[in-house]
Amino acid sequence: MEDRVLSGGSTEFDIGFEQSLRPQLLREYIGQSQVKDNLSIFIEAARGRSESLDHVLLYGPPGLGKTTLAAVIANEMNVNLKTTSGPAIERPGDLAAVVSSLEPGDVLFIDEIHRLNRAIEEVLYPAMEDFCLDIVVGKGPEARSIRLDLPPFTLIGATTRAGSLSAPLRDRFGVPLRLEYYEIEPLKEIVIRSADVFDVKIDEEAAIELAKRSRGTPRIANRLLKRVRDYAQVRGDGKINFAIAQEALEMLQVDSHGLDHIDHKLLTSMIEQFRGGPVGIDTIAASIGEESITIEDVYEPYLLQIGFLQRTPRGRIVTHDAYAHFGYPIPESPRN
Ligand code: ADE
Repeated sequence: MEDRVLSGGSTEFDIGFEQSLRPQLLREYIGQSQVKDNLSIFIEAARGRSESLDHVLLYGPPGLGKTTLAAVIANEMNVNLKTTSGPAIERPGDLAAVVSSLEPGDVLFIDEIHRLNRAIEEVLYPAMEDFCLDIVVGKGPEARSIRLDLPPFTLIGATTRAGSLSAPLRDRFGVPLRLEYYEIEPLKEIVIRSADVFDVKIDEEAAIELAKRSRGTPRIANRLLKRVRDYAQVRGDGKINFAIAQEALEMLQVDSHGLDHIDHKLLTSMIEQFRGGPVGIDTIAASIGEESITIEDVYEPYLLQIGFLQRTPRGRIVTHDAYAHFGYPIPESPRN
């Protein structure tokens, strides 16, 4: 993936930094009110019965706080959080090593759970349902299966693509929760809270401007805030006001809708080379030098959400709103 300020992924360098921005408790977690309302009931009920929380599936676009929420849940349940990811678990033994280290009630967080391979999924089913592991030891005629009992635990799976999960795995999550893009108001609150953590002063209008340009995504809002803070420190007096925020965002090439140069490239190449579509995802990917999967998971969901792109059985099409946004004349003839 090409480097960009708005990229959904975390990097090694900012993980520690972003950690301090993360809320610890459900009541500190801003936005996603439906998810929070549901979770608070299930957590209180499980705690009241002294049971582990049922398995939770968190799905939705990157950067909306799935990892943060997993940590909040573990914290609210007063248990340990063990974190791993789908691609990190290559063999059944890898999974066995992780789950056998769990204490009663612990949360096991598996990020990118759609990337678990089928052999691991098979081992995971009994672990989720009956808290036991069936492991094959030895080879050839000596091979036999041994059953390991596990403590009750909560699996929290996170994925950007719930549709890629096998049905049997999806069905084993008692609490599926979909995270939505954030509205401007909660994003503004997140920006103000993060500025407070950074000990930097920010005007409300500047916070709103950042919120508007963050693609509904807290991770992007926090990243833009850091860059705008740098700008304010070097070009201003350190305080972030509306003018400084606008100048900095201009310099970062983040437009009024929060679209960056890759979104521009994606949409304008569809307009210029493919007459706005319909065009297949692989063709678009090849024409702009990005991977199809990155476009599908990272760039496209927000463009669909704001109505700049539509998916049809024949491929993606650019909407008239997007033509207008980029200053292209609206095509008159029906698409072919
Ligand atoms: N930082 C990142 N996401 C957040 C959220 N949803 N609430 C509070 N702080 C956050």
